[in-house]
Amino acid sequence: MAIRGSVETSLAELAARVRRRAEGHPGRFLLGIAGPPGAGKSTLARGIRDELNLAAGTAIAEIAPMDGFHLTNAQLRAAGILDRKGEPDTFDAAGYVNLLRTVRDTAPGTTVPWPTYDREIHEPVPGGVVFDRQTIVVTEGNYLLLDDRAHPDWSAVRPLLDETWYLDVPRPIIEQRLLRRHIRGGRTPDAAKSKVANSDLRNAALVEATRTRADLVLRKAGRGYRID
Ligand SMILES: Nc1ncnc2c1ncn2[C@@H]1O[C@H](COP(=O)(O)OP(=O)(O)OP(=O)(O)O)[C@@H](O)[C@H]1O
Ligand SMILES: [Mg+2]
Repeated sequence: MAIRGSVETSLAELAARVRRRAEGHPGRFLLGIAGPPGAGKSTLARGIRDELNLAAGTAIAEIAPMDGFHLTNAQLRAAGILDRKGEPDTFDAAGYVNLLRTVRDTAPGTTVPWPTYDREIHEPVPGGVVFDRQTIVVTEGNYLLLDDRAHPDWSAVRPLLDETWYLDVPRPIIEQRLLRRHIRGGRTPDAAKSKVANSDLRNAALVEATRTRADLVLRKAGRGYRID
């Protein structure tokens, strides 16, 4: 009889799983990490990349952040949606899909510049990272697993990924992290509360509905992660 429950695993074990799956894979292997805002996706992606590169003794993995496809503040202002920054339609989803396809379909050794997002100036940075010889691409962001009629561009992401993980975090922890981040970023406590309630948690609910589409659901546990 199958035993219900979860397994604890370390970052090194998770990275080894990726390495095994990527071995023998033609071209570049794409791992996607999805999850709600503030879940720790970027932290996990950096951990996996660093473990992979350390174990290989060379740069075999790099991060392709979905956040690099934030529309610029000027574009958002012109469209009258600056106050909704972070929602699915405030990103260039089609551009993200196109570049994922490019990085997947070009041979390692071909350079592919990828935009990053600067949290100091709150703007995307074109070519913030450049893929070259790396064979493993770790892409991470909120909306990788969206699949509904309201967001047709996002639905094209999942089929491009070789493996997907969902990073699950209890709501109260997310709320606390986001509140702290907004206050650190200069908002008053009331403005921070309002941003979390009216924007972040709405986005979180949308993302939480995509959890079942992931190959693996992870939760932080002690020094490692628990696979649910
Ligand atoms: N495992 C963890 N334990 C405690 N704090 C963490 C953990 N992972 C991330 N954090 C903290 O939570 C906050 C959010 O982490 P991170 O930026 O990795 O999340 P994210 O999912 O990428 O967020 P966003 O969706 O906004 O990009 C950061 O302040 C980070 O230091
Ligand atoms: Mg992040």
